[in-house]
Amino acid sequence: MKALVYHGPGQKAWQDVPDPAIIDPTDVIVAVDTTTICGTDLHILKGDVPTVTDGRILGHEGVGTITEVGRAVRTLSVGDRVIISCITSCGVCSYCRQQLPAHCLDEEGASGIGWVLGHLIDGTQAEYVRVPFAESSLHRLPAGVSDEAAVMLSDILPTGFEIGVRNGRVKPGDVVAVVGAGPVGLAAMMTAGLYGASRIIAIDLDDNRVEHATDFGATDAVNSGAVEWKDQVLAMTDGLGVDVAIEAVGVPLTFEMATELIRPGGTVANVGVHGRSVELKLQDLWIKDVAITTGLVSATTTPMLLRLVRQGRLTPEKFASHQFPLDRITDAYDTFGRAAETKALKVVINR
Ligand SMILES: NC(=O)c1ccc[n+]([C@@H]2O[C@H](COP(=O)([O-])OP(=O)(O)OC[C@H]3O[C@@H](n4cnc5c(N)ncnc54)[C@H](O)[C@@H]3O)[C@@H](O)[C@H]2O)c1
Ligand SMILES: [Zn+2]
Ligand SMILES: [Zn+2]
Repeated sequence: MKALVYHGPGQKAWQDVPDPAIIDPTDVIVAVDTTTICGTDLHILKGDVPTVTDGRILGHEGVGTITEVGRAVRTLSVGDRVIISCITSCGVCSYCRQQLPAHCLDEEGASGIGWVLGHLIDGTQAEYVRVPFAESSLHRLPAGVSDEAAVMLSDILPTGFEIGVRNGRVKPGDVVAVVGAGPVGLAAMMTAGLYGASRIIAIDLDDNRVEHATDFGATDAVNSGAVEWKDQVLAMTDGLGVDVAIEAVGVPLTFEMATELIRPGGTVANVGVHGRSVELKLQDLWIKDVAITTGLVSATTTPMLLRLVRQGRLTPEKFASHQFPLDRITDAYDTFGRAAETKALKVVINR
């Protein structure tokens, strides 16, 4: 088959590789119909994720059709259409039983992290992919949900919802600020309304992203390049600060911005992946009764989000800004890698 293979920092190739085969009885093989590229894939290509080694097929998002099932798989069959979760999980370890499969202890090669596809084992940017622990890691795709919508349930929608909105404990009437209007921040904005936020304020430096945020559920938008950006946000509250501040960028400055916006008693939910140490101004925060949360997506809310997509209450197909055939995936990377110029949000890649 053909696959997108990582060959060390800055190097990737769409090339011939052996077809994947069942290894464990709980595996299935999925023919990938639709996949997409995540910001994390760009981090890998920069060499930021050294656990990804030369020869690895990238990708942890996808929708496909099962072509082969291991002998222990009972509830999935050849021909089933499925969403491939970015988190694969054994379903029975202590973390899986605590609804935290992000830290599944039974994963191949990495005890304690459920993200293995396109990381520690070959991923979804290929014609076929082997999915371990298939029964607890795949979701059957109901008729009537498009691949474009479904592929957003592999990673970005559960991430924005679980790590942003749910960890942030958004409740009816809350004013929610989301720092970073990339796919993950926009997914948090799209799902913050589910808990009845009264205002959802998008904050970004990129004018295009700030403007588009209102199509994804934001009620207000602020460009944080403006000197008085903070006053603009505070003016959208009762003056005391936002109830929930979601950080969806992953740099020290934006985490600090989130902690500056929060009102006493509020919650700062960090979603961004940080590569550097971040200053925590506990000298200012200790007196404010704020909670700060962190997390890696578990994707346990995918079935719930899928029900809302099916009902038309969530429309994640809006994230699809560009379409490419699978054999032009390197062009898709180029477009996604220049998002500020190309205005790419999610590039959808179809077989
Ligand atoms: N916790 C998890 O489980 C999890 C899962 C997936 C992704 N993530 C992380 O979430 C973060 C967001 O992902 P994404 O794909 O949306 O990223 P992205 O790079 O597409 O979007 C980031 C946005 O932040 C904006 N930005 C950059 N610097 C800024 C600044 N100083 N002030 C305001 N805005 C700024 C950019 O303009 C961009 O729109 C990343 O760090 C990613 O690694 C976390
Ligand atoms: Zn991802
Ligand atoms: Zn587990």
